[in-house]
Amino acid sequence: MKSIIEELKDKALKELSGLEDLKALRDFKVRFLGKKGEVTRLLKSMKDLSPEERPVFGKLINELKAFVEAKVEEKEVELKELERKRRFEKERLDITLPGRLPRIGGLHPLSQVLGEVVDVFKAMGFQIAEGPEIEEDFYNFEALNIPPDHPARDMQDTFYISERVLLRTHTSPVQVRIMQKYPLPIRIIAPGRVYRRDFDVSHTPMFHQVEGLLVDKKVTFAELKGTLIEFAKRIFGANTEVRFRPSFFPFTEPSAEMDIGCVICKGSGCRVCKGTGWLEILGCGMVDPEVFRSVGLDPLEVTGYAFGLGVERITMLKYGIDDIRLFFENDLRFLSQFV
Ligand code: PHE
Repeated sequence: MKSIIEELKDKALKELSGLEDLKALRDFKVRFLGKKGEVTRLLKSMKDLSPEERPVFGKLINELKAFVEAKVEEKEVELKELERKRRFEKERLDITLPGRLPRIGGLHPLSQVLGEVVDVFKAMGFQIAEGPEIEEDFYNFEALNIPPDHPARDMQDTFYISERVLLRTHTSPVQVRIMQKYPLPIRIIAPGRVYRRDFDVSHTPMFHQVEGLLVDKKVTFAELKGTLIEFAKRIFGANTEVRFRPSFFPFTEPSAEMDIGCVICKGSGCRVCKGTGWLEILGCGMVDPEVFRSVGLDPLEVTGYAFGLGVERITMLKYGIDDIRLFFENDLRFLSQFV
């Protein structure tokens, strides 16, 4: 019996020393000290002993039990410390590693330039106006002196929704809506999306324009020129050269196109300005008497000027971008250059 106790003690010590984690230790405790464990089994086997032997072995077994319990406690402290170390090792942070910077977003280049254009005109006292992108033929064409079958309709290949309803091909219909609705003097710009059936390196089916309209009494062409020259200098720089060329629009008379000195070659002639040294940036003119009549204003009483510019075109010239489609592909390699 005594040697059985000694054997069990050796076995317990040996197993204990081989335990690697707390779970194994818990299993060991059950196996040795639990209700069906080895020590309990030993205690139960005492019933086969003689009454004289019983207390002797009972004492030895209780000593064994206390001994193993003490060892288990020691081991528990040891394993807890070990597991803590293992966890620290696993969760180790290298605080010397460089951080991961979050990507910073930014405004789309078109939004940036549109914002600049709007700011320039706002500073000159223009108010912001808006009109619908789905427009009636009357506002997009008729009231602007472009009757049915007028050749000018071919200038702008139109997306029709029905015979009388279309996607506006320019922001000029806003001129008509504003003149119908508000008293003079009128001084507005109307930024927004416009649509034409076009798609190549310099045309997309949707693009952005900013319309300008000033209507009052005795408005002159000189005021139109002064305003637009100042605009060009604020957007492209104070030394920008500007010229006006006669042109034609059904809704302005006289009409002009404004050019700036080529931003690439500074006027000596290059591929971008097609050797002319000049870049067209907007259309403009004095509001045509027919347009005034169509909104019920007397052309003998009131005068005004209007202009329309393409935001994509201005942005391309400002940054030397040679393909308009880049604006709409949302390629971060392109867009992140403008953050
Ligand atoms: N609406 C014209 C276009 O889209 C531009 C323009 C606006 C010209 C106002 C003159 C006056 O081409």
